[in-house]
Amino acid sequence: MKLEKSLQWIDDRTGLVKQIEAIAAHPAAPGVKWKYVFGSAVLTAFIMQVVTGIGLLTTYVPSAGGAFESLRYITDKAPLGAFLRGMHFWGASMMVVLITAHVLRVFLMGSFKFPRELNWTSGVLLLATTLAMAFCGQIVRWDQNAVFGIVAAAKMAAHVPLIGPWLARFIIGGDVVGTYTLSRIFDLHVFVLPILLASLIGLHVHLVLRNGVSEPPVPGRGVDPATYRSDYRDMLRKEGVPFWPTVVLRDFTFAIGVVIVVLLLAWLIGPAKLDNPPDPSLINAHPRPDWYFWWLFALLALLPHSLENYFMVLTPLVIGLVLFSVPLVSNRGERHPARRPLAVAAVVFILSAIVALTVAGWNEDWSPRIDAPPLSAKIIGASSGPVYEGAMVFNKMGCLFCHTIEGHGGTRGPELTWIADRLTRDQMTLRIMNGVYNMPVFGRILSTRQTENLLDFLSTRNKSGFAKGQQQ
Ligand code: HEC
Repeated sequence: MKLEKSLQWIDDRTGLVKQIEAIAAHPAAPGVKWKYVFGSAVLTAFIMQVVTGIGLLTTYVPSAGGAFESLRYITDKAPLGAFLRGMHFWGASMMVVLITAHVLRVFLMGSFKFPRELNWTSGVLLLATTLAMAFCGQIVRWDQNAVFGIVAAAKMAAHVPLIGPWLARFIIGGDVVGTYTLSRIFDLHVFVLPILLASLIGLHVHLVLRNGVSEPPVPGRGVDPATYRSDYRDMLRKEGVPFWPTVVLRDFTFAIGVVIVVLLLAWLIGPAKLDNPPDPSLINAHPRPDWYFWWLFALLALLPHSLENYFMVLTPLVIGLVLFSVPLVSNRGERHPARRPLAVAAVVFILSAIVALTVAGWNEDWSPRIDAPPLSAKIIGASSGPVYEGAMVFNKMGCLFCHTIEGHGGTRGPELTWIADRLTRDQMTLRIMNGVYNMPVFGRILSTRQTENLLDFLSTRNKSGFAKGQQQ
């Protein structure tokens, strides 16, 4: 009795109680089964990210000098710190996975068609914002990977026509990656993007309530904008299932499952390993983004670099445009996947490409091989003297991680077995001191003597004159 009175009082002042009751009582499309749980699970994951994110904020220091140390403190010393970071990390992965599953479900079932075009558009924006959030999250970790990531993003932005250079400076916050970069990305990660995300979620949920959840598609029964709404209303009146408790309880059960999986992953596997603190002179770094970006990373790394420039801007742009245009291309007609072979083929093609690229990003033959065994005296062809010293520099400075000599070493850069046949000593000097594309700059790292020895060694790498090297 008391409760009822209080509710009445609240409803009289706010009108909220009646609104919530109306939402709970509204009928939902029948046949809305487990395929429909992903959307609300994304919301659950988002809420979890907000909560764990606030937890991390209590200790995280957003400055270039303090960020890495504060994360190290959270991970190693703070009570439950590693667990909290683990939850935030796996929660992000979970959100990306769920939102992808949701987009796929909506696309395959043609749920984006009339009258739900704007549901789709706001959903695409949510997907983009979520990925931006995930990316910024990797940057605020502020380790070697983070610096690599932000440089890659700036490089990508720099290829945008006209405003490219300006955009790159804007992302980095100046000319060099440092405190201004971190402040900027931190602002995006904890302030701008979450507010955008929350607003978009609000809009998206509003649209879902307004247009109703799409009924499962039936082959042969397409969407006709002229009759769809009245047919939908009739269908709800005759066969609708109550939103509460039927639909809500199913969503809730799945959401609990999602939370449990995140807790387990955080507990069993823990957070992303903190890489080395950022150090631009560290050329032995083994940079790699979090797993859900591997495909893009692999795509960019596998392309010949004459194409890379175009692909860098074009790939995200084309993907975005294609996604946006989906309801413009087709907002009526068949919804059932069996009647939309082209749509299904597109999904199969894109998913296979992403899986294949993700596997490539995981294997990554093309990235530095840091466990390459050092060159032996036999390969070097000397056991003392400048050539030998030069080969030791080659081993020590990580040249070997990217370059192969007689089958030893990595394949990130060109093979150098017969480099002296291809380049003169001066040309080699130029490449090594100034770097070339994807080849680090060694000018400030090597001493003059190291450089000379290195060149002595590389100059022996020719087919005809190899004996000369051995004689030295
Ligand atoms: C992070 C990987 C990486 C490391 C470490 C690295 N390189 Fe390279 N290097 C490359 C790449 C990639 C290229 C090809 C650049 C291009 O596309 O033109 C290259 C090119 C070169 C070339 C020119 C080869 C040619 O055929 O044009 C030379 C010489 C060279 N590197 C020597 C070295 C030496 C010496 C070291 C160690 C001091 C070293 N590199 C360390 C990646 C690396």
